[in-house]
Amino acid sequence: MSQFDSGRRRPESHRIETIAVHTGDDPFRFLGAAAPPIVQTSTFLFDSYEALEEAFANPATHCIYTRGNNPTVRVTEEKLAALEGAEACRLFGSGMAAISAAILSCVKAGDHIVSLKTVYGPAYNLMATWLPRFGVETTFIDGTDPAEWEEASRPNTTLFYLESPSTMVMKLQDLRAVTAIAKARSIRTIIDNSYSTMLLQRPLELGVDMSVYSATKYLNGHSDVVAGAVLGSSELVGRINQAEFPLLGGISGPMDAWLIARGLRTLPIRMRQHQESAAKVVDFLVKHPRVTRVNYPGHPSHPQYELACRQMKGGSSLLSIELDTNELDAVKRFVNGVHYFGLGVSWGGHESLLMAPLIAQSRELPPDKWQSMNLVRLHVGLEAAEDLIEDLDQALRLM
Ligand SMILES: Cc1ncc(COP(=O)(O)O)c(C=O)c1O
Repeated sequence: MSQFDSGRRRPESHRIETIAVHTGDDPFRFLGAAAPPIVQTSTFLFDSYEALEEAFANPATHCIYTRGNNPTVRVTEEKLAALEGAEACRLFGSGMAAISAAILSCVKAGDHIVSLKTVYGPAYNLMATWLPRFGVETTFIDGTDPAEWEEASRPNTTLFYLESPSTMVMKLQDLRAVTAIAKARSIRTIIDNSYSTMLLQRPLELGVDMSVYSATKYLNGHSDVVAGAVLGSSELVGRINQAEFPLLGGISGPMDAWLIARGLRTLPIRMRQHQESAAKVVDFLVKHPRVTRVNYPGHPSHPQYELACRQMKGGSSLLSIELDTNELDAVKRFVNGVHYFGLGVSWGGHESLLMAPLIAQSRELPPDKWQSMNLVRLHVGLEAAEDLIEDLDQALRLM
């Protein structure tokens, strides 16, 4: 009998709310506990030579050491896999640990990657400056036109690394078209799906091989954990499980995994609220005279709105705006004038956040990759949308 299964069965639901609450949680493994225990242990003890032998013979279904398997971490991985409709999931200690492990599992010296100019800064740096040390080159493209992926491919291309939408200017890639090009050339595809979560975009059903997440964002949703996840087929995630996961060791601890599982139980209702509030904030911003552009894939003003409707179930609550000024002091007056939007990096939590990308990017990217000065990114949190709109309105007047 697997250590991860009490043998008790519930009817299997395919509805996302029920999966979020029940899947992965098996109370009868843990004395009927409605919330699973945090199994805060590094190692597991066996009561006989035979028990130890059985565990070593079946490492996937037994806990031997927490940099391998841990029951609390497993609850979260099973919940995530069920939500994504993936065969397998591994949880990591950060989104970047998950991204690095997934990318490394697809390349060896001499290989080539195609990715995006707009990809998340540290992922860009991993491919642009770190992987070349090991003989892996990357071509960065705009990526909105599927033909560019084909053109950038070489005989030694083994990976397309996508992020749709991107999380600064919200550019999309046509996932069906790009994955079809990849499949025809036996190229693997990975997408960073942190913006949408599996609730608003289902990459594996659109042909992507693996999805990666900063679980720090919506999946946890409470700004109290840094974590990441890789999801995909048993074969691909299994390879990571044999190599990058234990060898690089970027695992998530039981306490953090437990917090992610707690966050996931309310993911569907949180995402619904984030979307509803973001729609109200976007409606306000698109009409505002001091805002020249709103980058939000869930609004008809987005240049790829039609594609967004085809492959996403609306935008989440991350958007960026362009202010009608290039004067740094005016941008500062706006940024310093908001009360509910905290000034800081990250997003996806309960609280609204604001980021002036120039500051963030100057730390992560070379100057030629910086966005313009007047671009401000907003994360719409779970506060009342009316309060957020009033807050933005008064801060925009200070410009
Ligand atoms: C789009 C995106 N992907 C990945 C990451 C990295 O995740 P983490 O900070 O959990 O390592 C971030 C973090 O901000 C992000 O915004």
